[in-house]
Amino acid sequence: MASLVANGCLNAGLGLLFIALVANHAAAWSLGRLSTRLLSHPHRLRPASLATADTYDIRYFTQLVDHFAYHPHPSTFQQRYLISTEHCSEPNSPIFMYCGNEGKIEWFAQNTGFLWELASTFGALVLFPEHRYYGESMPFGSQEAAYKDADSLAYLTSEQALADFVSLLTDLKKNMSAEACPVVLFGGSYGGMLAAWMRLKYPHIAIGAIASSAPILQFEDLVPTDTFYRIVSEDFKGESSDCFDVIQQSWDVLDTVGQSEEGLQSLTNKFLLCSQLNNTSELENWMYAAYEYLAMVNYPYAANFTMPLPAFPVREVCNAINAGYNNTDILSRIFAGMSVYYNYTGSATCFDLGENIDGIDGWDWQACTEMVMPMSSNGSNSMFPPYTFDLQQYEAYCLEQYGVKPMPTWITQEFGGHSIKKVLENFGSNIVFSNGLLDPWSGGGVLQNISSTLVAVITEQGAHHLDLRSSTEDDPQWLIEQRQVEIAHIKSWLSQYQDQHHGYAASS
Ligand SMILES: *[C@@H]1O[C@H](CO)[C@@H](O)[C@H](O)[C@H]1NC(C)=O
Ligand SMILES: *[C@@H]1O[C@H](CO)[C@@H](O)[C@H](O)[C@H]1NC(C)=O
Ligand SMILES: *[C@@H]1O[C@H](CO)[C@@H](O)[C@H](O)[C@H]1NC(C)=O
Ligand SMILES: *[C@@H]1O[C@H](CO)[C@@H](O)[C@H](O)[C@H]1NC(C)=O
Ligand SMILES: *[C@@H]1O[C@H](CO)[C@@H](O)[C@H](O)[C@H]1NC(C)=O
Ligand SMILES: *[C@@H]1O[C@H](CO)[C@@H](O)[C@H](O)[C@H]1NC(C)=O
Ligand SMILES: *[C@@H]1O[C@H](CO)[C@@H](O)[C@H](O)[C@H]1NC(C)=O
Repeated sequence: MASLVANGCLNAGLGLLFIALVANHAAAWSLGRLSTRLLSHPHRLRPASLATADTYDIRYFTQLVDHFAYHPHPSTFQQRYLISTEHCSEPNSPIFMYCGNEGKIEWFAQNTGFLWELASTFGALVLFPEHRYYGESMPFGSQEAAYKDADSLAYLTSEQALADFVSLLTDLKKNMSAEACPVVLFGGSYGGMLAAWMRLKYPHIAIGAIASSAPILQFEDLVPTDTFYRIVSEDFKGESSDCFDVIQQSWDVLDTVGQSEEGLQSLTNKFLLCSQLNNTSELENWMYAAYEYLAMVNYPYAANFTMPLPAFPVREVCNAINAGYNNTDILSRIFAGMSVYYNYTGSATCFDLGENIDGIDGWDWQACTEMVMPMSSNGSNSMFPPYTFDLQQYEAYCLEQYGVKPMPTWITQEFGGHSIKKVLENFGSNIVFSNGLLDPWSGGGVLQNISSTLVAVITEQGAHHLDLRSSTEDDPQWLIEQRQVEIAHIKSWLSQYQDQHHGYAASS
């Protein structure tokens, strides 16, 4: 134990690189890509240009492609991870690990300022492992090989990803003689789901988890299927019921205009599209994506997560739509709203609906296997056209696309979800489920306290993992308080660990 002082969490043994983070991350973060709305509905984001820089080292770790079977000649791949020992100043430094989700890991490191700030307060080692099949962490040598077919994609599962995190942590601690250092997990969105699940599945590896905007209940019939689009719609209605009405009416208008060649031509012109429309489906997807992301990133200050946007962007979009109050042409008003989302900086010369920088559809595979999140749109509470969740259609898409049949009940078998309060209150502990109620994913989140150490921290005005972002001067009081509650829980996990493993640091 004494070796921790000299050789523990403090001593990573390698110099730090200064990395100016210029992420060209694109679409991946979209938790709901395939699973929202109809199947052939990929969402595309532009790369956000990112500003802050932090210091970390980039390393690679050899992982088994398959953790759960014993192959005579097991395949391995290089998992990328970011590590910072900058803030470790105590021998018993905790390790703060962000559970990488569906995208390049730098992008999450960049957008999780809260963890970096806490690392400085707690003197923690920071770890951001990349999720397999995203960013550079590709099995079979290349992205092309990894994404070749269902046989090569078969190892893209949440279970394998969690096993990667566990192997990495265990090996890293051994290398650093830091076996006794407590690990606290963080994650947002799918990463938040992974953080919560990892704490439940691997309590010997991590002492607690901050699971932000983690929709672990967005499966089967755990929440009504219309929840996601109901919340998106409520966000818009909450700003203005006229805005909601105009959007709700716009879909029929779009369909009608899109029936003829001339109509498609006029839409191409009206929406300043870069290329000629062949039908309205791509234009509709582009609009869907804008509304969904606007609801998710409806932050109380100007930010650049999916797009550079003003504070309360839903309000700004509705203002733009409502400014055309006397304009009887509904689609011109919609164009004004879209321009706030897609052209806030004024730099777009035309709109490219098919823009896709990343090109990785890993989430589509995950949604076609275990991540089946049923979605519908209910005419009575949604500004989107009504539709029901159709498992047959979903299956048909997945069979055609990948030749696999989704397993819609697997996640709840593997990780639970049914009667979550009853099940977890007796054996689970040390997870904070944080949610902002403006976030459409909050509907699938844990919104009730389960026990004194499995807690729901809710903000009425919060959006998608807002709490994980860096603090700013514009943070409202409720956000500051939300983070303070999270910090208090982390403190109590650490001191509980310290009490139980007293002397795990220098004293022995
Ligand atoms: C631990 O050290 C070994 C030997 O240097 C190295 O191969 C391995 O990648 C290290 N583990 C981690 C997690 O970096
Ligand atoms: C529409 O179809 C034509 C050929 O039929 C193609 O050249 C064009 O790129 C398509 N437009 C879009 C927006 O995909
Ligand atoms: C609509 O147009 C796009 C772009 O040309 C094409 O990829 C898609 O298949 C078309 N959809 C339908 C339903 O025709
Ligand atoms: C809308 O029209 C009304 C009456 O025609 C007029 O008083 C009002 O100023 C117009 N509003 C805008 C925003 O143009
Ligand atoms: C984007 O905004 C700028 C500035 O308002 C404008 O000149 C340009 O036409 C807009 N682009 C599109 C595609 O609407
Ligand atoms: C639609 O929403 C209403 C009111 O929230 C609810 O009573 C009804 O069951 C929902 N219908 C469907 C098909 O989900
Ligand atoms: C959970 O419990 C804490 C106090 O322990 C309380 O402050 C908080 O409001 C509760 N959360 C919910 C969603 O009821």
